[in-house]
Amino acid sequence: MTKTDFIDQIALGDCLELFPRVPDNSIRTIHTSPPYNIEKDYKGYNDKLVVKDYLDFIEKVLSECMRSLVPGGSLFWQTGYTTDQEEYITPLDHLTYPLFQKLGFCLKDRIIWRYWGGMAFKAKFTNKHETILWWVKPGQSNTQSKFDVFPVREATKFYDPRNNLFGRNPGNVWEVDRVAFGSNGQTSHIAVFPEEISDRIVLSTTDENDVVLDPFSGSGTFCKVAKARGRHFIGFEISPHYHGESVQRISLQAKGELLSVLSEILKEHVFITIGTKGFGAIEDKVMNLLSPFSLESYKNIIKKPYLDALCAGQEDVVKKSDKIKLWNDLEELLPPFGTSKSSKDSFGLVSIIDRAYMRVFKLHKAYSSAMRFYYAAKWLAILQSNLAGGRKEGWAKILTSLAESETGTYFLTEDKITIRSRRKKLKIDTIESSSLENPQESLTTQQLFR
Ligand SMILES: C[S@@+](CC[C@H](N)C(=O)[O-])C[C@H]1O[C@@H](n2cnc3c(N)ncnc32)[C@H](O)[C@@H]1O
Repeated sequence: MTKTDFIDQIALGDCLELFPRVPDNSIRTIHTSPPYNIEKDYKGYNDKLVVKDYLDFIEKVLSECMRSLVPGGSLFWQTGYTTDQEEYITPLDHLTYPLFQKLGFCLKDRIIWRYWGGMAFKAKFTNKHETILWWVKPGQSNTQSKFDVFPVREATKFYDPRNNLFGRNPGNVWEVDRVAFGSNGQTSHIAVFPEEISDRIVLSTTDENDVVLDPFSGSGTFCKVAKARGRHFIGFEISPHYHGESVQRISLQAKGELLSVLSEILKEHVFITIGTKGFGAIEDKVMNLLSPFSLESYKNIIKKPYLDALCAGQEDVVKKSDKIKLWNDLEELLPPFGTSKSSKDSFGLVSIIDRAYMRVFKLHKAYSSAMRFYYAAKWLAILQSNLAGGRKEGWAKILTSLAESETGTYFLTEDKITIRSRRKKLKIDTIESSSLENPQESLTTQQLFR
């Protein structure tokens, strides 16, 4: 096995059998939610072991996590509780805590995922949270485990000139709606992570091109988010049914932010009007769409030095006395998510980049207007410089990368790109387990769509 065997794939099989093929010290971050041992009705896996066997299994998995993480790498272990009776519970983080200690992990934080919904209980309070233990592999000083708060800052509830312009540290209680069973048209999995949780973890603890892993990848949420953010991913999944669906789900996601945002723009504004004509027609349409919206046009709304500071993500340049006015101006451009205020800029950055961003990255909803402006400006500049003077060959290159990374959406022939479906909820063809002859063999998206 070579070093890159599993890169950017979800492999089918038992994680304990697949893990040894992952090199030592190669993974930056693991985010996973193991089976809870509560007889969940997974397709193809028995979720009820005697406690001793369950703990033996988890210990083996943790020991592989420890081996494969880079020193200073992070393991986000997301669990709820297990129960053998109706009334009394055992929190899984409590049950497994000694295993982490035995293996030498250092606990860096305990994050609470607080959600709405959840099954109502009659004899006690309805459960509304799960825990995510953030463990670090030692070997470097603890301060060397990566943490970047900037890309995960969230909007503050009230404006105060003492606050950071871009938003606050989101803290360790994350309020994110659960993904209701059946609501995600891309999977039939019964325990899907919200993408926002994985996204916060990816953005704050990894850099572009780092490798991340989920040994129990289920519907592939962590891998999908990692792909969208331009990280390399490895997933393991034992159920052929979930594996097939997750491979297909990943194929509907472009790789990296540039292609993801561009793909959304193409779907929303280009294919809808020009269909599947050649590269030239697509190029003309995108250039027309983006060219008038130079950042210069925002100078009248946002005072020049602050426009530069916003584009550069600089907080300290902005005078405290100007902050409230700046926040208000930005909110007029980009009204907070969920409000009915209309935008002052309905055909500029807001409607194109911000909306494309919002559709790909669900975490975007939590951002402040300053942060959304920062991202819109950043991607407008990147798109414009990538597209500038992009004649036919340049365009063919961009569209080829898109068709290679989002194989489930685009189909490329000589000089034409076809979109497979414009519907929001794309049809999932169930992959029958019988069609997978060798369950140890991993399927790449290319193989699946050949
Ligand atoms: C709690 S779910 C993970 C859900 C996932 N976070 C998502 O967003 O869809 C656990 C998954 O682990 C899989 N699984 C159970 N035992 C496994 C094993 N030994 N190796 C690999 N996957 C396994 C189950 O089939 C299930 O899909």
